[in-house]
Amino acid sequence: MAQKLIAPSMLAADFGNLQRDVEMVNNSEADWFHIDVMDGHFVPNISYGFPVIAAMKKYATKPFDVHLMIEKPERYIEEFAKVGANIITVHYESTVHLHRTLRQIKDAGCKAGIVLNLTTPLCVLEDILPECYMVLLMSINPGFGGQKFEDITYKRVKKLRAMINAQGLDTKIEIDGGVTDKNIKQLVEAGADVFVAGSHVFKNDNQTETIKRLKALANS
Ligand code: DX5
Ligand code: ZN
Repeated sequence: MAQKLIAPSMLAADFGNLQRDVEMVNNSEADWFHIDVMDGHFVPNISYGFPVIAAMKKYATKPFDVHLMIEKPERYIEEFAKVGANIITVHYESTVHLHRTLRQIKDAGCKAGIVLNLTTPLCVLEDILPECYMVLLMSINPGFGGQKFEDITYKRVKKLRAMINAQGLDTKIEIDGGVTDKNIKQLVEAGADVFVAGSHVFKNDNQTETIKRLKALANS
């Protein structure tokens, strides 16, 4: 089975010590950096944008998984690619021409994925799945770190894995929100591949150890 991946969310990092926290991730068993971009419209919060991502990229040695929580993301794809995005995921709920937006991400040289909010029906993915490197299922309402994982996610992961298998694809399933050492194993069993973890990693005294533990649990 392919390795299960851990993507620490830099939203929970200490912004006053961003270089230090980027280097912590570099030197850990994490696989990707998860970069949350919020515009204050699509979600009721504003995070960071191009200059901060470019600054992190200067020190980072692992891929950038950029999660766009912004209205009409098609306006900014090329710019996110330019500042270092490797994977770009856009919300189904944020763009009218989803197919065109995914093509735009690939044309910019990135891997493309779709994000679904907590209860957006999975059937909307049916025809677009072959275009997706990854599908991100939100396991909280997007906008803030530190929220409680919603149990509805388990059955959604199982259902999505069955949809992916039925089409003979190997699309990755990423889970974002409230991931901890308490639920990661059950999410793997349901069929998930990539795990975003923000507060569980950064609000912990030993961050490197926490990442190591998540990685071991996911791959055990
Ligand atoms: C929330 C973001 C998440 C967030 C996860 O909208 O998409 O990536 O940082 O944070 P935790 O792991 O604390 O739930
Ligand atoms: Zn995210």
